[in-house]
Amino acid sequence: MKTFQERYSEYAEATENALREYCESLDFRPAILTESMRYSLLLGGKRIRPVLFLAALDAFGVDWKKELNFAVAIEMIHTYSLIHDDLPAMDNDDFRRGKPSNHKMFGEANAILAGDALLNTAYSVLFGESARGERYLRASRYLCDAAGADGMIAGQSADLLYTAQEDAGGAELEFIYDHKTGKLIVAPLAMAAILADRNLTASERFGQSLGALFQMTDDILDVKGTKEGMGKTVGKDRAEDKLTCVKVYGLMASELQADLLAERCNVALEEFDCDVSFFQGIVALVRSRNQ
Ligand code: IPE
Ligand code: IPE
Ligand code: MG
Ligand code: MG
Ligand code: MG
Repeated sequence: MKTFQERYSEYAEATENALREYCESLDFRPAILTESMRYSLLLGGKRIRPVLFLAALDAFGVDWKKELNFAVAIEMIHTYSLIHDDLPAMDNDDFRRGKPSNHKMFGEANAILAGDALLNTAYSVLFGESARGERYLRASRYLCDAAGADGMIAGQSADLLYTAQEDAGGAELEFIYDHKTGKLIVAPLAMAAILADRNLTASERFGQSLGALFQMTDDILDVKGTKEGMGKTVGKDRAEDKLTCVKVYGLMASELQADLLAERCNVALEEFDCDVSFFQGIVALVRSRNQ
């Protein structure tokens, strides 16, 4: 019986290998375009979204090793969102995944294009998968919607809108959490449910709570965490007057809310009709993380 850590590593390493292999096949010109895409994609990161996807397939009885293209597409979209999130026009962050952010390495204009290129390449991968049949098409569509104007991008837009807005509070924060982070955490779980022909609602409910927990701990760690652990500058949210749980509720109450959200995640797992031990491990990991 594998431990939680062994299973996490197995899914994360499979994703890493698939990403590396995919990157080796890329040869866009000018070379700086390929280089800047590769740089951020292969920089590391927790790979939690593809891990959730592969683990859910595994739990639902699907051969997850055959679905690594989806894992690549998920991580490409997430990575593009980080490159753009770090731009001076957005969060103006100089570090990401323990290294200089994309625009620090390649300049702002190239970083915008690297993000665009990763998003478009992800769609090429998804179109390829869609040709396999109806379920693959539905899973691809789910990811596109989650990333789009009613998904992650809406959350990023709200994040900008409510920065330094004193009349914004809990309701606005919930919208930000559900969209900028929640959508791309729900999507991998929902995509796995679609491919396995399983209960979609259970995956969505769990994903929504996990997404909120993930962003809440991200906000908390911007205050409590270290640059070394997080691989990015900390203390940025306050400096930029971002709408975070710490701003709305304070640090102590945010910690309590995070505990409640972790409980809600575990309650949501009761709706699953399969072994959920790995996901219980994920909840504990996200609640107690320092990276
Ligand atoms: C960072 O995501 C952006 C948020 C939604 C908080 P991750 O914390 O998953 O970043 P990586 O992929 O591990 O670098
Ligand atoms: C970013 O949220 C969410 C997305 C990239 C969609 P944050 O701005 O809080 O993420 P970090 O702290 O820069 O990783
Ligand atoms: Mg941001
Ligand atoms: Mg940011
Ligand atoms: Mg943050």
